Parts: sequence; structure tokens; C-alpha cells
Amino acid sequence: MEEIGFLGMGIMGKAMAMNLLRNGFKVTVWNRTLSKCDELKEHGASVGESPAAVVKKCKYTIGMLSDPPAALSVVFDKGGILEEISSGKGYIDMSTVDAETSSKISQAVIAKGGSFLEAPVSGSKKPAEDGQLVILAAGEKGLYEKIVPAFDVLGKKSFFLGEVGNGAKMKLVVNMIMGSMMNAFSEGLVLADKSGLSPKTLLDVLDLGAIANPMFKMKGPSMIENSYSPAFPLKHQQKDMRLALALGDENAVSMPVAAAANEAFKKARSTGLGDLDFSAVYEIFKVTQPSP
Ligand SMILES: NC(=O)c1ccc[n+]([C@@H]2O[C@H](COP(=O)([O-])OP(=O)(O)OC[C@H]3O[C@@H](n4cnc5c(N)ncnc54)[C@H](OP(=O)(O)O)[C@@H]3O)[C@@H](O)[C@H]2O)c1
Repeated sequence: MEEIGFLGMGIMGKAMAMNLLRNGFKVTVWNRTLSKCDELKEHGASVGESPAAVVKKCKYTIGMLSDPPAALSVVFDKGGILEEISSGKGYIDMSTVDAETSSKISQAVIAKGGSFLEAPVSGSKKPAEDGQLVILAAGEKGLYEKIVPAFDVLGKKSFFLGEVGNGAKMKLVVNMIMGSMMNAFSEGLVLADKSGLSPKTLLDVLDLGAIANPMFKMKGPSMIENSYSPAFPLKHQQKDMRLALALGDENAVSMPVAAAANEAFKKARSTGLGDLDFSAVYEIFKVTQPSP
């Protein structure tokens, strides 16, 4: 496989680029804050000085950026992808964004002769480290087929969902459900505690029943220890709720549960919890439920 470019060395991008290196890929990385590339360099990556420089060097470039403004910035700004993308080169945006952002990027890349694939992922820091992500790709099938060897390293399964926008929408639906579940879980933990039950025992009970799931199992023990080291930053979960609600608006889908969950994530952000793990929304339910 050709050398892969990788833009964005955040929690996810760093783990994914490291995984590609571990599996024998040559990788050139770039990050807005350059120092975050140091560890990758120690593991054999080259460092590009701009997104354009990375695209110039690599046939395929992957992006893993925080949100729509960041995803657009690495494409359209000075030193961006558009300066070097051309026929025979592909850009794969794995960030979680809305379908409109993805379409804008796709159109611009294709207008320059390049190929585009959106490929947001389900799974967090640990699955990214272990190559166990679920990849939700859409866009140009030819590029999908060429990048599959890299997807096979990054994920346990990749879906090709058709036209650009379908990957973004699928990812937003998944994260809308996840955010709503995290709110119900947090309320339940507080309700157990305030009504004299052990939250730890609640976790054991949940884990044996029909609503057991890996998220409750993984996050529950650290939540009851008030520990929120970020695997999925809360500010990104709130961004996903906001984008999912906008998708609901577009399609006239009533989403009262997701709307309430979004309010809780917004409140958590406004109290300074945005950079913690999204499970820190639990703190909001604790403070709004004073003891009788
Ligand atoms: N973490 C998860 O569990 C998870 C799971 C699935 C999907 N996702 C999605 O994956 C994406 C990345 O998440 P993450 O957890 O890795 O986030 P993160 O740790 O916050 O990293 C965000 C990355 O975006 C870069 N960035 C932000 N604004 C930028 C701008 N204006 N121009 C250029 N680069 C910019 C950051 O660069 P700096 O270092 O310079 O700030 C950093 O490399 C997000 O869309 C998120 O929703 C995350």
C-alpha cells in the first residue's frame, strides 16, 4: 500500500496513525499543534508541514479532526488539501461532521480531480488503539476499495453506505442514541444513590440483564469513582447531539429525548466539563438532584 497521510493527532487520530505504523504502513502526519506529532515521529512517521505538504507526498490522506470548522479548515484554508489534491489522489475524512460539511469537501476535492470518501467511525480511544473501530464509509466506491487495506487495520468492520452524506448521517444517529443512553444511565445512577441503593450494585444488576451493554460496563465503574479521563470528549458528544438534532429538524423527526440529552451536555460544557469524558454529564444530574 502507498504511503498514507494523516491529519489530526488528537485522541483518535494519534491512536489510528500509530496503529497504521505498527502494521507496517509508511505514514506522514500533520497536526495544527505540531508538538503532538513528536511521539509519532519517534515511532517512524514523517511529519508534513501543512495539510497540502502531506497530500503532495501521499497518494491517500486521512483526516481526523474535531468538528465541521476544523474539517473545513484543513481543506479550504491556506496550506490546505485543495492546494495539492489532484487526479490519482484521495482524501478520506474520518471526522464526525454533518452531511453538508462532507458534501462541501467532496465537491471541492472532486472539482480538483481528486477522490473523496467520508468515513466516520464508531468506537472510542481503546478500539482505535486496538484496530477495533466500526467504519461508516460513503462516497467514491473506487477509493473505498483502494483504502480497504488501511481500514482493515483500523477497524473490525467497514460499511460502504453509498453516496456522500450517508456515513455522516449514520454516525450522527449512532451518537445521538449513545448520548441519550448516557443521560438515562446517569439519571439512573443518581436515582439509585439518592434512594439509598448502591450504584455499584446497580451496575452489577444492569450487567446481567437485557439492557447490559459495553458502554455501561466500561464507563460505569469510573463514573461512580468520579473519574472522567477523556476517551470521547464531552464537547464532541454535544457537537454530535447538536448535529443529530439538526438532521432531525431537516427531516421533521421529533426527538424530545435527544433534545433533553443535548441540554444536559450543553449545561455540562457551560460548567467547564467539555474537555472531560462525555460520561462527566453525570455530574450535572448530581448537582440538580439535591438530597431531600
Ligand atoms: N474520541 C472518541 O471517542 C471519538 C470516537 C468516534 C469519533 N470521534 C470523532 O473523531 C473526531 C476527533 O475526535 P478526537 O477525540 O480525536 O478529538 P480531539 O482529541 O479533540 O482532537 C481533535 C483534533 O482536531 C484538531 N483541530 C481542532 N480544530 C482544528 C482546526 N481549526 N484546524 C485544524 N485542526 C484542528 C486538533 O488539533 P490540535 O491538537 O492543534 O488542537 C486535534 O488534532 C471528532 O470529530 C470526534 O467527534 C471521536
